Amino acid sequence: MGEKHGGFVTLGIESSCDDTALAVTADGSRVVADAISSQIDSHSVYGGVVPELASRMHQEAILPLLCKILAEAGISSPRDEIDLIAVTAGPGLMGSLLVGVMTAKALAQGWGVPLIGVNHLEGHIFANVARKEGDDRPVPEPPFVSMIVSGGHTEVVLVRAFGDYELLGSTRDDAAGEAYDKVSKVLGLGYPGGPVIDRLAAGGNPEAFRLPLPLAGSKEIEFSFSGLKTAAITLIEKEKAEGCEFPLADVCASFQRAVVESLLSKLKLAVKNTGVKRVTLSGGVAANSALRAALADYAKAKGVELFLPPRAMCTDNAAMIAAAGYASYMRGNRSTLALSPNPSWSVW
Ligand code: KG4
Ligand code: ZN
Repeated sequence: MGEKHGGFVTLGIESSCDDTALAVTADGSRVVADAISSQIDSHSVYGGVVPELASRMHQEAILPLLCKILAEAGISSPRDEIDLIAVTAGPGLMGSLLVGVMTAKALAQGWGVPLIGVNHLEGHIFANVARKEGDDRPVPEPPFVSMIVSGGHTEVVLVRAFGDYELLGSTRDDAAGEAYDKVSKVLGLGYPGGPVIDRLAAGGNPEAFRLPLPLAGSKEIEFSFSGLKTAAITLIEKEKAEGCEFPLADVCASFQRAVVESLLSKLKLAVKNTGVKRVTLSGGVAANSALRAALADYAKAKGVELFLPPRAMCTDNAAMIAAAGYASYMRGNRSTLALSPNPSWSVW
């Protein structure tokens, strides 16, 4: 056992999309070391993730990153000091997942260490559990309502217990992050769109343009961001055609307001329907400042306990995968060397 770190040591590996990430945790959730190699600059020129490029870049990055993380964690003899290897096995891009899973299997075999395949979305929930040094915020105790908003997913899940999940609702079409990325591309702001639109929106008027609120009237917990994206693109084209100074900040703020209102209204519905007044947020879009502020206001007004991961833990990282893998392993789950990636794996 990894005595040096005072407890069970997990190596987490994440490569499901465009970030190669590795982390070492002790006792499941205490982050000892955390490293990430982002491919954003390479994909940015194409306005989105190019799968073939992503898998090649994971393959180049993963072993140097492993050496770095082991050095940072002070691990000199992995076979003696690492107790578990947790790797994202899906959902995600097949070629990207393969690199992480094959690396994890090779290390597990070579070092004689147990292996556990982790679901990427369950991993996002555990972004609320993993803790960096000095972060002593409480960990959410199930039951809680978890909203996962990323580039590929918009899902609201009831976490009855860790490992016992019920999908309350999801998107009919595009994910919230995907809408950010597509609108950003049309605005010529590059990929990923979320951070730049978030920044520009701060200087704009969210009331400047009325964009349709997806499925606002429906009593179902379901999202639709495709119509909103199209409405935003139509607005952008109309404003450009008018030839006046383009109201970039106002367009960003109005689009963002519609996304945030849509997410918040369905989250409220989930709390109301389940009667569970404890909420977690995660996934890349959880880094959004307007969404965080709107949720904080709602939680305060309604006496809802709210858990928001630090921004760096919202986007893809391996600490959340290590934390989820550890919890799964402790529940008795195991993977063998037959583990293969499943690009559409669902645990709900
Ligand atoms: O969770 P993540 O890193 O990868 C996926 O699993 O998809 O999420 C990436 C997504 C991208 O669509 C990106 O535009 C969005 O999260 N994002 C944001 C912000 N930061 C990242 N969206 C809105 N506001 C942000 N500040
Ligand atoms: Zn993700």
